[in-house]
Amino acid sequence: MFSQDFPVFNASGVWCTTKEELESLGKSEASAIVFKTMTLLPREGNPKPRFFLGSNFSINSMGLPNLGVDYYCSISADLRKYKKPLIASIAGFSQNEFLVLFDKINKASFDIVEVNLSCPNLEGKGLFAYDLKTSFLILKKIMKKTKKKVGVKLPPYFDRQTIKKVAEEFLKLKIDFITLVNSYPLGCFIYINKEAMVIKPNLGIGGLGGGILQPIALAQVVLFYQYTKGKLPIVAVGGIEEVSDIYRYTLAGASFFGIGTRLWQEGPEMFSRLKKELKEFLKKKKVKSLKEKIGKVKFL
Ligand code: DHB
Repeated sequence: MFSQDFPVFNASGVWCTTKEELESLGKSEASAIVFKTMTLLPREGNPKPRFFLGSNFSINSMGLPNLGVDYYCSISADLRKYKKPLIASIAGFSQNEFLVLFDKINKASFDIVEVNLSCPNLEGKGLFAYDLKTSFLILKKIMKKTKKKVGVKLPPYFDRQTIKKVAEEFLKLKIDFITLVNSYPLGCFIYINKEAMVIKPNLGIGGLGGGILQPIALAQVVLFYQYTKGKLPIVAVGGIEEVSDIYRYTLAGASFFGIGTRLWQEGPEMFSRLKKELKEFLKKKKVKSLKEKIGKVKFL
């Protein structure tokens, strides 16, 4: 599906809204180009400030600013020149919208669709993924029509029983991969001097990302890997900053790696740094490829 020797790319949302940003991912060492989650109509997003970078976390309430599905479909053919998988990310406000979005993507030059069932910043709307019945129904309809690989992006928390249920249903539906995890939906931070919230939208509460999320995301990766018996490829997202984080997620069960907060800080040159460091890391560990370590964590 993606490059095997460096299966690392951007997490949707970071460095991927404008054509210019997408082109810079194309020119980087990222092994795929993931687009900003797109909606039927273009959106300006929430009022600013809507992003805050803390010491080991970020808080965002962007509110899905994007140029609209028709725009992204119209530039997809041109972005093929980078010879990397093009991954569309879609979010509808209703079941029907997800299907209309999917039909448009299905006809465009994308290789893969990530169905975002976990956007945290839609005021008055819960997370789609927590309505399992509707989520399964949407995915069932999408899998019937699809000519593309289909992945699903999930929120950072399901309990064990729900993970088991989702894992079994996704295997049955033949979903191609899952992305674990989206931002933790309810995070905030407060300036001491100003005695004010750090971001403006939705009472200052937005999606929490970055290093702080790693132990939470790791547990979801471990459980999904175990409950699918390793049959459903996992894209790990959540606080990846260094090669050791990539290795840790590999042991937990991930095959691919998306980077959000750290990419925002470091820019797309980050990918060449990590590529070089991963090569050295694996050589030192005497491991030929990450592949041989997927899901190989030792349980005590
Ligand atoms: C936004 C944030 C997300 O975490 C996501 O999955 C989709 C959209 C946003 O606020 O733009």
